[in-house]
Parts: sequence; structure tokens; C-alpha cells
Amino acid sequence: MSTNTVDNQRKVTTKRLIEMKARGEKIAMLTAYDYSMAKLIDEAGMDVILVGDSASNVMAGNMTTLPMTLDQMIYHAKSVIKGTNRALVVCDMPFGSYQGNPIEALNSAVRIMKESHAEAVKMEGGAEIRESIERILSAGIPVMGHLGLTPQSINKFGTYAVRAKENAEAEKLLADAKMLEEIGCFALVLEKIPADLARRVAESISIPVIGIGAGGGVDGQVLVMHDMLGINKGFSPKFLRRYADLSSIINEAVGHYIDDVKTGDFPNESEQY
Ligand code: KIV
Repeated sequence: MSTNTVDNQRKVTTKRLIEMKARGEKIAMLTAYDYSMAKLIDEAGMDVILVGDSASNVMAGNMTTLPMTLDQMIYHAKSVIKGTNRALVVCDMPFGSYQGNPIEALNSAVRIMKESHAEAVKMEGGAEIRESIERILSAGIPVMGHLGLTPQSINKFGTYAVRAKENAEAEKLLADAKMLEEIGCFALVLEKIPADLARRVAESISIPVIGIGAGGGVDGQVLVMHDMLGINKGFSPKFLRRYADLSSIINEAVGHYIDDVKTGDFPNESEQY
């Protein structure tokens, strides 16, 4: 277990994350999609586990996050919740489950909370989805915002390049971040934007700003688990730090198993009844 976090055993809540920002303690967030990995990640001392719709890419093998359904997100979140004791579990609202109107958004969020027992939802977008976020917040469901590169809008952007490099987009992002704080979001993810802008946002609002490809001037970091563990080797953006090379370890172990089965070495005398 990590030795860096204060209060290693105490349950992480949305309120605690805001307190962490206030005292300058960085927040660690990582994705998980199943029971076993969630359990390992939680036991290591993670503050927030995100059941990301990146499950579409790393679990289902899709090119984008768009195909993910509400039922699929609920399935993943339910599994993650069973493996988690301490971390706050946040579940992404999938594409198409909240953009239509506030009532549709509320119904989707209520299903996530009721059926998976996740503790908060994450939604991509600013002013365009303000009413939907407000409707969900008014039902007592905590919302984490997500600005910058928002992968559910990839077909509008046409590229996964860094966002908000131009002044107009940067100013809109800053205004959206302030609006999300004002209406009551408990935290905000900033994805793939210039580090200076991300720092400016983090310094302008009191809720925690969690970055991915947004530099070190924010209040915490999030990565996709498959990327940082080296399971997903095909994806290597500049912002990604790899903490393990699990694809080589798994490849080698599975290769040994195949050899042992083929040669008759496995099972041996002690491995049978
Ligand atoms: O779906 C996801 O994994 C995410 C993170 C990249 C923030 O939204």
C-alpha cells in the first residue's frame, strides 16, 4: 500500500476530496472496470477509482468511447464497487445517456446510482449540458465535470490533439470550469490541455481539478489503468508514464504455460489429485 496518503484507511468522500485540495494534498485517480483490478487498486491506496467509458477502448476493443451503453457502464461499475472499500467510485455517464434533456439525464444517473451503487457520476461538457448537470445535482447525485479533450465529442473535434490552445477556446474552458464549480460539481477532470491553462483553472476554482495530459499544476492526476500498467502498448502519448510492462510479463507467463502443457510438464505429481 502507498505510504504517501494521509489517513490511508478512511473512506474517501466528495467532501474529503475538496478538503484535500484545500490543504494541498494531491489526489490520485485511476480507472478500473472489474472486481479483481478494483480490489488491487483500492488496496494500494487509490483515492478515486473512475469507471471510465474508456472501457469501450480497453475492455471492448472499440475505436471510440461512443458505443458504450448505460447497461454496460452499470455492469462495470457494479463489479468495481464490489472490490472497493476505501476509494470514491465515480462512474462515467456514457454517450447518449444525458445529452438529450435533463429528465433523460436524471433517469440515467439514477439508474447508475441505484443499480451499481457508484458514488458519483462524471459528465463531459460545459454550458451545453448545464441544465442536465443541475437536474442531477438537485437529486443529490454528486457530479464530476470533464472539460478539454472530451472523447465523446471526437467526431466533432476530428482529432485527439491538445485542446484549448487558442485564446477563445481557453476562455470558454475557464468560464465552463467556473460555472461547474458554481452549480455544485465536486471536482473536474481536465484532459489534454496546455499545462499553463490547467494551472490557471485549478487556481481559479476551489473544487479539485484532476488532470490527464494537463501538467503538474493541478490538484491530482488520472490515468487509464491499461495504459499505465503497459497492458495497452499501442497507445503512448507524451503525457503517459508507464509504471509496468504487464504485456511482456503476461506474454511470457502465458508462453511458459503453453510450453508446459505441450511438453506434458504441467500438471506434475503435486498438481493432481
Ligand atoms: O473514460 C475515461 O477513462 C476517462 C479518463 C480518461 C479521464 O474519462
